[in-house]
Amino acid sequence: MAFTGVDGVVFGVADMAEARRFLTDWGLRETLAQPDRLVFETQDGGEVIVRPQDAPDLPPAIEKGNTLREVIWGVDDAATADRLGTQVDPNGLHMRFRVSRRRAVVATPTPQNAPGSPGRVDRRSPVHDRAEPIKLGHVVLFAADFAAMRAFYTETIGFTVSDEYPGHGVFLRCRTPGEHHNLFILNRPGKPGVNHVAFTLRDVHEVIGGGIAMAGKGWKTEIGPGRHPISSAYFWYFHNPLGPPLEYYADDDWCTEAWVPQQFTRKPELFAEWAIAGGIDPVTRRQKQAVDESGRGKA
Ligand SMILES: [Fe+2]
Repeated sequence: MAFTGVDGVVFGVADMAEARRFLTDWGLRETLAQPDRLVFETQDGGEVIVRPQDAPDLPPAIEKGNTLREVIWGVDDAATADRLGTQVDPNGLHMRFRVSRRRAVVATPTPQNAPGSPGRVDRRSPVHDRAEPIKLGHVVLFAADFAAMRAFYTETIGFTVSDEYPGHGVFLRCRTPGEHHNLFILNRPGKPGVNHVAFTLRDVHEVIGGGIAMAGKGWKTEIGPGRHPISSAYFWYFHNPLGPPLEYYADDDWCTEAWVPQQFTRKPELFAEWAIAGGIDPVTRRQKQAVDESGRGKA
């Protein structure tokens, strides 16, 4: 299989205007704005498509309210796209496969300095005043039937396990070499749903600066900033009018054939090495609160 990653995501929402406002603030580029269809792009051409939640041609929702209605997976060639076509996973979520429309983007993270290893010479480290997401990185789903979802995505679709909480969660990548996960599936018996959708940024500085900018525009943090030990990524999750939280993240693991998957037992320090609950106040630049309201498993 020759997957390229998440090529697009389709949301069904109650308030198109609020969704438009959020995605503009999120740093995406609007390419289409019609009363019943918004299209925004990441830097590499990944698409976020927003439709009214009662649009008759939208695939059915797997949970109530605003949510993700379809995932568009990119593939390398037309034969693969034709063979895989359109599918419905055991959760009921629709997906389609198309020849990827994404463009190659080479991002340049800010180099770091360490004793004996000056990576950034005669140059200050930047402070970002907004994020510009490079690509759609991953989707995270709650599985009503975890074993069926794991089998579907590994055996029928052909994704590879990068790491796993046996019986509880599985991190899957769609290509090797590739990012640590393009899909993470979490066990939530009987209750299918969407945990979050994540956008890749160039480095931790853009995660921090982008997140503070979103807070400054009034958007509420779900959790972050912080860092995941599994996948190594820096993260910041926001509530939003598209439904599931959306995540800024950077610096996730890159896996080749030599990557060794591990099995983990659930514990809080594996979700986050550290995390700020409630986000950072854009004025004081201090944490807003010390109590974590979420308590939800994420990656
Ligand atoms: Fe994530």
